[in-house]
Amino acid sequence: MEKEKTHECGSSRRDFLKKSLTGMVLGAAALSCVNVEKLLAAAETYPMAEGSAPKTFNLSDFPELGNKGGYAMVTSKVIVINKGGGKYTALDMTCTHKKQQVEFDGSKFICPGHGSEFDKSGKVTEGPATKNLKSYKVTYNKEENSITVNM
Ligand code: FES
Repeated sequence: MEKEKTHECGSSRRDFLKKSLTGMVLGAAALSCVNVEKLLAAAETYPMAEGSAPKTFNLSDFPELGNKGGYAMVTSKVIVINKGGGKYTALDMTCTHKKQQVEFDGSKFICPGHGSEFDKSGKVTEGPATKNLKSYKVTYNKEENSITVNM
């Protein structure tokens, strides 16, 4: 009978294979515990940081955007306003003065922090803010009834 070769560290080839197989089985078991669907759902709930990628929104999910003048928050910080004729404005609601979230009253943005005001396009109309609200390019897709915001 052939004697099994033993490596200089004292473990045999059979030991090595046994340990490797155990590692693979444990790794697979750990992966199976991760709920991929939950991970994907979390990715939807917490989208990538703004400024990272275009994001498409189905307009049927935002009936407020159906008419000219309608508006809706599409993320916790980004508002979209329907300008009519398939044109939309998307603005970051973060005040450019000291980063408080501005409020929209249907015609202008007002910052509760120190009173800055911005028009519907995000342009400063009242200080102390000196910079306009950050805006994002919006593309309307009529066939798919969606908009894509370049955040
Ligand atoms: S944080 Fe908006 S005006 Fe100061």
